[in-house]
Amino acid sequence: MARRKKIYEGKAKILYEGPEPGTLVQYFKDDATAFNAQKKAVIEGKGVLNNRLSEFFMLGLQGVGIPTHFIKRLNMREQLVRQVEIVPLEVIVRNFAAGSMAKRLGLEEGMPLPRPIVEFSYKNDALGDPLVPEEYIIAFGWAQQQELDDIVALALRVNDFLSGVFHGVGIRLIDFKIEMGRIWENDFPRLVIADEISPDSCRLWDIETGRKLDKDVFRQDLGSLSDAYTEVARRLGVLPSNVTHNANGTMIN
Ligand code: C5P
Repeated sequence: MARRKKIYEGKAKILYEGPEPGTLVQYFKDDATAFNAQKKAVIEGKGVLNNRLSEFFMLGLQGVGIPTHFIKRLNMREQLVRQVEIVPLEVIVRNFAAGSMAKRLGLEEGMPLPRPIVEFSYKNDALGDPLVPEEYIIAFGWAQQQELDDIVALALRVNDFLSGVFHGVGIRLIDFKIEMGRIWENDFPRLVIADEISPDSCRLWDIETGRKLDKDVFRQDLGSLSDAYTEVARRLGVLPSNVTHNANGTMIN
């Protein structure tokens, strides 16, 4: 393959310059990290699954009129996306108490929240993506008030869509993280969903059994992460057709 200019390398993905101006190629690695990269592993096949799953969710969102950066999947591990100006926030939506919220407030994991709650972390690995109030976001100019209102509204629409899709396959969407980007059109920024949507950035519990089907399997050593993600992909009908498995049944390409 021809050499391409690497624009950015993150923990789970690499961004390369795309074939047309204003496009990027997003490559999904097999690397899994948790606790701000203090725990690391290579999970064979994770990148392939997340590429497919993210494609599935982005196309679904576009189908209900929610704009995303996704253009098309190129191959097993890569997708073509629009280049956007990333809003430096992790937008987290929670339907049930879990993770850092359960810990911070002393809540039982799985407790239904009175309504979906949107919260923000400032995207900064060195600081461990600290939770920030809206006041900080406006004061430091990470987003304008109107844009922040739009971000909340968009995040709640994504939550409605994803909750419904997962519910249809017997999975409870506990919480998730998304990132948004700006596409500038005639000096006006238009918000789109960027980055990825995959079990790396969601909490997904089986409705019947409570089995965790997301990155907590890796964070908490609950078994095979690749089995959990494969199960999500299988239920959603998005398993790649030319998958091979090793003797343990783990997907290897
Ligand atoms: O850890 P916490 O409970 O704050 O995470 C909330 C949600 O955001 C979880 O679904 C988690 O997987 C996701 N998240 C993420 N990337 C981070 C932090 C959280 O995808 N850096």
